[in-house]
Amino acid sequence: MIKNDLYLRALKGETVERPPVWMMRQAGRYLPEFMELKKKYDFFTRCQTPELASEITVQPIRRYGMDAAILFSDILVIPQAMNIDVEMKPNFGPYLPNPVRSQKDVDNVIVPNIDETLGYVMEAIKLTKEKLNDEVPLIGFAGSPWTILCYCVQGQGSKTYDKAKKFCFTQPQVAHQLLQKITDTTIAYLKEKVKAGCNAVQIFDSWGGMLSPVDYQEFSWQYINQIIEALKDDAPVIAFGKGCWFALEEMANSNASALGVDWTITAKNARYLTRNNVTLQGNLDPTRLYSSPAKIKEMVKQMIDEFGKDKYIVNLGHGILPDIPLENAEAFIEAVKNYK
Ligand code: CP3
Repeated sequence: MIKNDLYLRALKGETVERPPVWMMRQAGRYLPEFMELKKKYDFFTRCQTPELASEITVQPIRRYGMDAAILFSDILVIPQAMNIDVEMKPNFGPYLPNPVRSQKDVDNVIVPNIDETLGYVMEAIKLTKEKLNDEVPLIGFAGSPWTILCYCVQGQGSKTYDKAKKFCFTQPQVAHQLLQKITDTTIAYLKEKVKAGCNAVQIFDSWGGMLSPVDYQEFSWQYINQIIEALKDDAPVIAFGKGCWFALEEMANSNASALGVDWTITAKNARYLTRNNVTLQGNLDPTRLYSSPAKIKEMVKQMIDEFGKDKYIVNLGHGILPDIPLENAEAFIEAVKNYK
């Protein structure tokens, strides 16, 4: 039904002519047509207005023709729906004025009715599907429970997430209650997103790499795996863990359709740890898009040669940066489309 189904075929591990390509954070960051909308509407207005969210989602597809679209939204709409205030401060990022740090705080966190709190996301998905006209698949996403906990407890972005870790290590039972509430909400949310039209879902564990391998299993992976198990019969699930290559072997035992890797691991080691058995997604260092278009093309070709064209989705190792020149982003996409 989807005209360009390269991405879905790669998720199934099928043999393809060339690997599919998209870029994490491709929607709503670096495009001038997005900047125009950003001037007029604040962040959550853009997320909550289906016409705006769907427009921002299709902007990169119109300009570059990636093989998949990712819905414009944010991982922090989940804590918002769970009764936790979230603000997006210009030039600062997420700010949660009442962080969750005690049993009482966790008791006040709700597992919401998705329709009532996040119905606007489903409307955005339906409108986006109309605009995409089945040209390419649409990816839905959520943050991992651990990554969401990081923001809920820390109250803002951080280089260390020390307050989030302190919470987990001093009040583990309370932390697990919070993680379970986030997990239950995320499962219901992603199921609704698939029903509304998303063809695959990606879980962003942006701060999984803050944890030691042992703590990663306890505070992050077991909850991601619950989500994978709950969603696997609805849609393919992609698990991206930034800085989590130490867990790849365990992740490869799961029912995830693909695993995302960042640039701190070689293709060879990632294939070795996943026993050549899983579709991998990644992993160009996003700051490498500052290199010249010629250099970018050379690096993309080498990256595909190393990962192999099958069971592979070309991507960056983390989100595209807001000041990447348009022709450099284009060089990245074109290098994949012209791969031989
Ligand atoms: O491809 C896309 O960009 C789709 C939409 C998308 C956004 N956020 C829009 C956004 C996606 C997939 C996200 C995921 C997200 N949000 C993650 C996981 C991925 C990652 O980058 O690690 C995280 C950790 C967040 C939390 C968040 N939201 C931060 C840290 C910030 C501020 C810094 C930034 O990234 O710009 C946001 C705000 C945000 N989310 C913006 C956008 C376009 C910028 C704010 C604005 O446009 O006003």
